[in-house]
Amino acid sequence: METQILQADAKSVEIAAALLGAGHLVALPTETVYGLAADACNEIAVAKIFDVKQRPEFNPLIAHVTGPEAARELVEMTPLAKELMAAFWPGALTLVLQRKENCPVAKLASAGLSTLAIRAPKGETARAVLQKLGRPFVAPSANPSGRLSPTKACHVADLLAGKIPLILDDGSCRIGVESTIIRADGERPILLRAGGLSVEDIEAITGPLIDGTATKSDKDVPHAPGALASHYAPQAPLRLNAISAQPDEGLLGFGDIEGDMNLSPKGDLTEAAANLFSCLHEMDQRFAKIAVARIPEVHLGRAINDRLTRAAHKD
Ligand code: TXA
Ligand code: MG
Repeated sequence: METQILQADAKSVEIAAALLGAGHLVALPTETVYGLAADACNEIAVAKIFDVKQRPEFNPLIAHVTGPEAARELVEMTPLAKELMAAFWPGALTLVLQRKENCPVAKLASAGLSTLAIRAPKGETARAVLQKLGRPFVAPSANPSGRLSPTKACHVADLLAGKIPLILDDGSCRIGVESTIIRADGERPILLRAGGLSVEDIEAITGPLIDGTATKSDKDVPHAPGALASHYAPQAPLRLNAISAQPDEGLLGFGDIEGDMNLSPKGDLTEAAANLFSCLHEMDQRFAKIAVARIPEVHLGRAINDRLTRAAHKD
């Protein structure tokens, strides 16, 4: 795939929004770091992000919105969230809140959690793309896993050229580190990631933050981003690499192994990733036990297997 790099202006913003609307990925600047954006409401587009980032697991993503009104459509507001949005949005603050029942954002973006991370970016280009697109985009930092977050278009090009159709170039990111992440679905704010907005600035509004940046061994605080125990796992016991179902099982198929539901009848791993969490939820409701067909351990299959393996061996 050829990657175009376009200077951010009204025309290129329109092209970016059209590409996103059609399910493609676009790298674009925010005031913190460059993000790799996808239409938040398109499960397949969201799955492509994990493919391009080459993550061996699904980490939840941040949905970017224009402001509190747009956020209200996606998540359950709390007094704490309102206060923080009023003080710091648009800006380098991401809030983790409970998803609304009818939240249109892809389940894969939440990696199966009941929560969604949201942020209203301040960067003009990101805001212009959001306006044109007319709905949220999700955007992790535009680097392959384990590499530094990019703060210039040329960093993104070094990392992702050939993998995405467009990079919008708007020079260096003003802040240069990722947003601060606060869990705000309860009464007290919990710091999940230190970032571009200082803890002191937040505490001036909310009082002391609870430190949630500790690892998963700390049982008293909600788990830090990506920690496995906080992720959705089905209630039903899971059996992997199944060829057929036992009498008391439902079968989640893949490719030729048809099943009661099928992650991707044509055996496409991107489609399977896009369907994973909604299929698991539905299978969990329908069956007391779930058998899952073998998923090849390549590309997005690794992340799918990572999640299935964890769900199968819960403590
Ligand atoms: O500044 C930023 O936040 C940049 C720009 C592009 O907006 N984005 C960014 O995204 O840093 P990413 O995907 O690289 O980092 C998002 C972090 C991850 O550590 C993820 O685990 C956490 O946010 N996260 C996302 N959703 C979450 C949730 N529901 N609960 C807890 N943590 C969550
Ligand atoms: Mg990142």
